[in-house]
Amino acid sequence: MKTKAAVLYKVGAPLQIEELDLDGPKQDEVLIKMVASGICHSDYSFRYGVLETALPSVLGHEGAGIVQEVGPGVTDLVVGDHVVCALTPSCGKCGMCLEEKPYLCAEMGRIIWNGCLLDGTTRFSNHGLPVHTLCGVGSFSEYSVIPAGSAIKVTKDAPLETVCLVGCGVTTGVGAAINTADIEQGDSVAIIGCGGVGLSVLQGCKIAGATTIIAVDPVPEKRTLALSLGATDVVDPNDGDAAKQVRKMTNGGVHFAFEALGRTETVEQAWNMLRLAGEAIIVGVPSPKDKIKLGVVGFFTERKIKGSAYGSSVPKRDIPKFIDLYLKGELKLDQMITKRIRLKDVNQAFDEMGRGEGARSVITY
Ligand code: CU
Repeated sequence: MKTKAAVLYKVGAPLQIEELDLDGPKQDEVLIKMVASGICHSDYSFRYGVLETALPSVLGHEGAGIVQEVGPGVTDLVVGDHVVCALTPSCGKCGMCLEEKPYLCAEMGRIIWNGCLLDGTTRFSNHGLPVHTLCGVGSFSEYSVIPAGSAIKVTKDAPLETVCLVGCGVTTGVGAAINTADIEQGDSVAIIGCGGVGLSVLQGCKIAGATTIIAVDPVPEKRTLALSLGATDVVDPNDGDAAKQVRKMTNGGVHFAFEALGRTETVEQAWNMLRLAGEAIIVGVPSPKDKIKLGVVGFFTERKIKGSAYGSSVPKRDIPKFIDLYLKGELKLDQMITKRIRLKDVNQAFDEMGRGEGARSVITY
């Protein structure tokens, strides 16, 4: 079949909007008719080569849609099911999946870096030239074939053009607060970066019972949005060292500091925001080349630093759970969507992201 998609041919170049050929689903794969796709900062990082993946590639990894066809071996999905695309294929066979940590599935890294499906190939092509599928999802396309394990069935009550955010940003952020961190009622937290992921961390912290929630972002509109979503205080890093400001506001530091940008200086800042025995949770995706510098003495006071991959989330358990929280009004997703756009406007949305504007743009098909 044919599908219109946004393809990255060369690092740094604009995405090309073009018609691709798409083969049908093979063993344990499903064909999804995309309804919506969020534009995540990681897509931006892939476009500019901060993160690397095989090219050419159909970008987009925060998709939601409707099952159009199931391949052989797929038993738990049927045509017409509504699904959110998870970032991990949950292969079910690797050591991490067997330990019930599908967010570290060994196949996940492979499909992210190689932009392929589980059998190492891709279903997209352009005049015979294979075109890769970013993160095994490739949601910047009207249709995509993805691993069945990445297609998480969700209730038809949930609007897909909103809950697509749960595919990446929300699961990464809310999961980091609820699954990775051990927040107790009354704890204090700081969140560095108030984009889609940071605002999800913030809301997860509120749900987990944190009562002092400090949002750190240089963009005034994002700080205002953070306050409307549950932040109790905000910090503008342009007013001086953010860590110092947070320590001052909290009499010595927070229980948990979340880094949601993937930058070395803000990872170090998160560490410097901690009270004694506090914990820094690193959520943002850094460049693989980055190194950080921490004051070692912090460990002497039992401070900890911990990574969070995909919010330590088990997609089949957590994606429906987060959608339920949204439907009950506890998780606010509509407010995080700055703009709804068409596929052809994807490059413009990247430009806005580069300028730090808005929390999330969503493509609707
Ligand atoms: Cu993402």
